Amino acid sequence: MTMKKIGVVGAGMMGAEIALCFAKKNMPVILSDVTQELAANGKKKQEDVLDRSIAKGRFPAEDKQAVLNCVATTADLKDLADCDIVIEAVLESFEIKAKVYQQLDAICKKETIIASNTSSISITKLASAVSKERVGKFIGTHFNSPASVMKLVEIIPALLTDEETIQATTQLMMAIEKEPVRVKDVVGFGLNRLFHVFYLEACRLVEEGVCTIEDVDKICVYGLGHPLGIFKLLDHTGHDLNQPIDQILFDAYGDRFRPSPQIQRLVDAGRLGRKTGHGFYDYSKK
Ligand SMILES: NC(=O)c1ccc[n+]([C@@H]2O[C@H](COP(=O)([O-])OP(=O)(O)OC[C@H]3O[C@@H](n4cnc5c(N)ncnc54)[C@H](O)[C@@H]3O)[C@@H](O)[C@H]2O)c1
Repeated sequence: MTMKKIGVVGAGMMGAEIALCFAKKNMPVILSDVTQELAANGKKKQEDVLDRSIAKGRFPAEDKQAVLNCVATTADLKDLADCDIVIEAVLESFEIKAKVYQQLDAICKKETIIASNTSSISITKLASAVSKERVGKFIGTHFNSPASVMKLVEIIPALLTDEETIQATTQLMMAIEKEPVRVKDVVGFGLNRLFHVFYLEACRLVEEGVCTIEDVDKICVYGLGHPLGIFKLLDHTGHDLNQPIDQILFDAYGDRFRPSPQIQRLVDAGRLGRKTGHGFYDYSKK
């Protein structure tokens, strides 16, 4: 199964970057959101990402327009009817996602694969929103943020996903130069179990006064070879996402994922990270 036409639902932080991964490989992609304005904002985010890459000498300026030309925007899911795969990246809510799948299931051709970028919801539970004819074509594709840079994509089959869907999705990820890793449909998949256990220990180091936020980040960068410190990364992903996933992991696995009071305080104060100008770090002055 070769996939030529890609749909992405949700033009936020993840959706815009996921769509960009395909456009950079000259694949036509339709990016949708609830309004045309939000979908167009997604395309603007893509342009900003490309401009930053061009400024750093990592992307040729002369290719920018061709990449952007691969992306069409829409507020009407019917425009995704003939996509070979639709990747959903809307808000992390079962109810919202389920409604999107039901609409896509009714609109899309019978061969269309529906993939979810959920961070924490069971893929098998999400698959229950589609018809029995579609259920073999439902799969999880968990991209890492920023999706246009990070190579990892976790491929998460639901209980009833068919092998052809798994293979076709894996091939597609390789075609856009990602490193697909197949993981079971367990809470947190692979990445978030590692990520959360690591950052919760980083929070404990700060709470116990062992070292500062800045020094933990230095340990990550200069001792572990990470490209950026864990607290900078948490500010990038957003505490409104980090906090509920902590809770979901704690509910599933118990004490080793006990949520951090520091993250809760930041959420309560509206300091959600880079996007609000303040998280562990202050971004308002830059
Ligand atoms: N932020 C991360 O680091 C990260 C990493 C991996 C996975 N995820 C997952 O990716 C998904 C999206 O996260 P995000 O950070 O991009 O969120 P976001 O809030 O930046 O974007 C979500 C977008 O979905 C749109 N949307 C909401 N309902 C919609 C609908 N019915 N139809 C179309 N669009 C709709 C919103 O308008 C918004 O633009 C979530 O499931 C999240 O858990 C996030």
